[in-house]
Amino acid sequence: MFEKYKKVYKADYEKWYKENEAYRQRVAADQDRLKFHLMPKTGWLNDPNGLCQFNGTYHIYYQYTPFEPTGELKTWGHYTTKDFIHYEDFGPVVFPDEDMDAHGVYSGSAFIEDDTIHYFYTGNLKYFDRDDYDYINSGRGSNTITFTSKDGYEFTKKELLMTTDDYPADMSNHVRDPKIFKKNEKYYMVLGARDVEGVGMILLYESTDLKNWTYKNRITTPQKFGYMWECPDLFEMDGQLYIICCPQGVETQGIDYENVHQVTAMKLDYDFDTDKYEIKDIKLFDRGFDFYAPQTMETEDGRRILIGWMQSWDNPMYPDTQRYSGMMTVPRELSMKGGRICQKPVRELENYRSNVISYDNVCIHEETELKGISGRSIDLEIALKGKEYGKFRIKLAADEKHYSEIIYDKDEKTLTFDRTHSGFKKDTISTRSMYVSDKKDVINLRILVDRFSVEIFVNDGEQVMTSLIYTPVDASGISFASNGNTHLDVTKYDIEVK
Ligand code: FRU
Repeated sequence: MFEKYKKVYKADYEKWYKENEAYRQRVAADQDRLKFHLMPKTGWLNDPNGLCQFNGTYHIYYQYTPFEPTGELKTWGHYTTKDFIHYEDFGPVVFPDEDMDAHGVYSGSAFIEDDTIHYFYTGNLKYFDRDDYDYINSGRGSNTITFTSKDGYEFTKKELLMTTDDYPADMSNHVRDPKIFKKNEKYYMVLGARDVEGVGMILLYESTDLKNWTYKNRITTPQKFGYMWECPDLFEMDGQLYIICCPQGVETQGIDYENVHQVTAMKLDYDFDTDKYEIKDIKLFDRGFDFYAPQTMETEDGRRILIGWMQSWDNPMYPDTQRYSGMMTVPRELSMKGGRICQKPVRELENYRSNVISYDNVCIHEETELKGISGRSIDLEIALKGKEYGKFRIKLAADEKHYSEIIYDKDEKTLTFDRTHSGFKKDTISTRSMYVSDKKDVINLRILVDRFSVEIFVNDGEQVMTSLIYTPVDASGISFASNGNTHLDVTKYDIEVK
């Protein structure tokens, strides 16, 4: 097995691969694997990296520890897909095998220019030559590194672009996760950063050739908003710049920022000539428990697609019976509606719907099950209609002992996901809530349940909640209840992947 903080080469992986045949088979036989979400074959997966579509194929690289479920070795794994359902797995393809990235091929991105994929990532270094390092302001190196490919499979030699000494002097050692954005024939790189005072921000660099980068500015909020902004993504939609990033250490405010680490979307007005900017409209990007480090890509047909890690750091993890860990969200299409980013499951998912069961306008009051509406790998479309109720409840993944609830409180205009009774080890109240808009007394929900994951898209993706549950897979009951009269339309599809 790998030794922490030692370089790892492709040859090491190939040797370990042979030794891990039994482990691979055990995981492949695991009956609990999610059906339509990306999960590793063995080991640990975190952030999606280097997302791009090249000559029709989507490439999804990701933070990958091939054989340990603890995520300590950082390589880039590689999947490809054409339909976001069937994935080909190429295992780890970028290794921490050089002095510049010896302790981790950390997160990064891909940018296509001149028929070439240009990759950028952070080479992580940890020093052990002194015993007084705090590993925040000293003792670490964060190198910005690039390499390219003409096909997504064969890569050029890694090239060091910037070291810790190239970042502004008041930065801590935590600077990472480069992503590229092009505007008016110039390239911009955003890097997530923490300064020496413990303030989270983005560093903005500029280039005309993707090789030589000049520091341009730091982008942050007027008041401190977390101590470190990880995985920044800068892109334009409908002429408006947006940042999606992961501020760490934001304090809980009411029902906002209840997770340990957050994912937020912000509007950015930026004048690239004067470097004056304003951040506006900071919103939690996903309101569930288990969502982190998302990244977007622009597809050849002009869609902006986002994939997130369906877990997060310092957070209770998926039941790890087979000793592997991590999954990605269903890819999401981003669109603009009324000045906000909406997220919808990628349209390709609809090609894998089967066994449709539908009910129209069922009046619900006491707890009701509807024949055929059940399952643990399903796509549910629900409309809640009417004025004559206060609360509507949907129980999911239910058996006699377990259930998870989605509760719409019409008076408070809140939607709550409650996984307290989902089989979660600790017996704590476990809820996340969000305010939703009830348009003309109708709420639309699209709910993707895939065994241990629940992704809830409200009102055509205006708001989203992504969470894991802990319920045995044969608990597949669904029921509805209301404390008045709610009129319910519901359609259930199984998602079948062959
Ligand atoms: C986000 C993150 C990144 C880092 C990577 C390491 O989840 O902490 O900032 O590059 O994970 O795996």
